[in-house]
Amino acid sequence: MEYNKKVVTLVYGCQMSERDAETLTEITRHFGYSPSEDLETADLVIVNTCCVRESAENKILGKIGELKKLKERNSRVKIAISGCMVQQPGALERLQKRAPHVDIWAGTHNLHDFSALLRKVEQGEKVAEVWQEPKGTLEVASFAEKGKLHANVNIMYGCDNFCSYCIVPYVRGRERSRKPKEIIEEIKSLVDSGCREVTLLGQNVNSYGKEFTPALDFADLLHQVDQIASLLRIRFITSHPKDLSDKLIKAVAEGEKLCEHFHLPIQSGSNFILERMNRKYTREYYLKRVQQIRELIPNASITTDIIVGFPGEAEEDFEQTLTMMKQAHYSQAFTFMYSKRSGTLAAKMEDQIPLDVKKRRLQKLMSVQNSESLEWRQHMIGQVVEVLVEGPSKTNPQRLTGRTRGNELVVFKGDLASIGSLVHVKINEAGTWTLVGEVESNRGIQSFM
Ligand code: 5AD
Ligand code: SF4
Repeated sequence: MEYNKKVVTLVYGCQMSERDAETLTEITRHFGYSPSEDLETADLVIVNTCCVRESAENKILGKIGELKKLKERNSRVKIAISGCMVQQPGALERLQKRAPHVDIWAGTHNLHDFSALLRKVEQGEKVAEVWQEPKGTLEVASFAEKGKLHANVNIMYGCDNFCSYCIVPYVRGRERSRKPKEIIEEIKSLVDSGCREVTLLGQNVNSYGKEFTPALDFADLLHQVDQIASLLRIRFITSHPKDLSDKLIKAVAEGEKLCEHFHLPIQSGSNFILERMNRKYTREYYLKRVQQIRELIPNASITTDIIVGFPGEAEEDFEQTLTMMKQAHYSQAFTFMYSKRSGTLAAKMEDQIPLDVKKRRLQKLMSVQNSESLEWRQHMIGQVVEVLVEGPSKTNPQRLTGRTRGNELVVFKGDLASIGSLVHVKINEAGTWTLVGEVESNRGIQSFM
């Protein structure tokens, strides 16, 4: 019998990074590797990296160090480090010096080529491939894991916005949109394998298709995806507020499968800081967009990203962020301390904020958002909400979990047979992160599995 090779894939960072890691794992499957979680028996370990904040980089460097020890115990294992951290200008040489035990280095633009790299490594070579620009076709995305209830689907790559704190445009390149036909085909094939919910991914989905003639924008793409039979739900991330069109809000209001959830990163509530961040909108403009969403879709869930301690952020700027949190009524916020990224504009700015001030502001921000999140969920008590059943709850296997259309997590007692279906759940209790409810059995379940 042929020896069954095992690959362990470790992922850091955002959903794009997760999606890239999935592509790499699927490529190795074609080479006879099967996914595993056990490092000790692995033949290949892939670490798909993130460099958006220093804290992620430090964790990854620690992991790469641990893998050196693994290699001492298990001489068969090959190590591959891929993604954003490797792609950073000038990073490869530094990383190679620090970690000579690594067998494959691959930048974000070299993932499609992973099979060629792997072949060389299996023949005993060490390889490093980091192109400065993307080349060739975009269709690495067609390597997707089949048979999952939820799938991430890239609709575009890269970012043209150059927010002054952000390294992403330097490691993901300029914006490129995938053709609608290819996206639709990929989703159809996922649906054929059992997928019922997709999240369309892009750094700024609202500028999807801006290079297309004849014109076709993100709302048009959503209309097409909404037509796919047996698909139950469509989500998308991330929306840059400056490009959020009325047409898109209307599309979400009208689309049958389009979930009423907008991830709309504000980053700061202060106009002074927003300008220094190069976000290209004001607090007032942002609030108008939120109001527009709430008018058309009263129960829409809005989530956000916020950075505290951006260079020059005075106490009053931070106060503006706190009042913004209260005005926008976010259901959830991802909050970060500003992290200096070399090569970005903000890294050169004066008035960098001391770490203790950043920490204090982050704590305060989190406590304000926690009470907002709780209030948001408490409002849902008594409502009957549609939930896509994902499986047994990790914290209580006697219960099931799933998500509402607004992406809130719900825990409830139910039948294992309902996994993969939509059920209606009456909300009885609410915490900061979770809702607790019971299935409204008289509404029945809608099964597609
Ligand atoms: N420091 C802290 N947070 C950052 N983000 C991006 N760059 C940085 C940085 N240098 C955050 C932003 C973005 C999210 C994905 O990560 O809030 O929306
Ligand atoms: Fe970074 Fe701004 Fe692009 Fe988002 S929109 S990836 S924060 S540069």
